[in-house]
Amino acid sequence: MYVCLCKNVTDRDIRRMVTVHGVTTMRQLRNELGVSTQCGRCAQCAREVLQEALAECAAARACPGLAAA
Ligand code: FES
Repeated sequence: MYVCLCKNVTDRDIRRMVTVHGVTTMRQLRNELGVSTQCGRCAQCAREVLQEALAECAAARACPGLAAA
């Protein structure tokens, strides 16, 4: 599903940033994908998807961003 319409970012894009690129914060997500940099309506949803993805990564012990921390 689309999370950020302004930047054409989907939940899969966010999950990929977490699992492949080690993103762990909204700031990193904003810098990498541009999420929440225009109208800002996606911020809450993006934060929820990010938290879900981090929780899934932590449970699977496969999260590069958390391993480095
Ligand atoms: S929907 Fe993400 S900045 Fe507008």
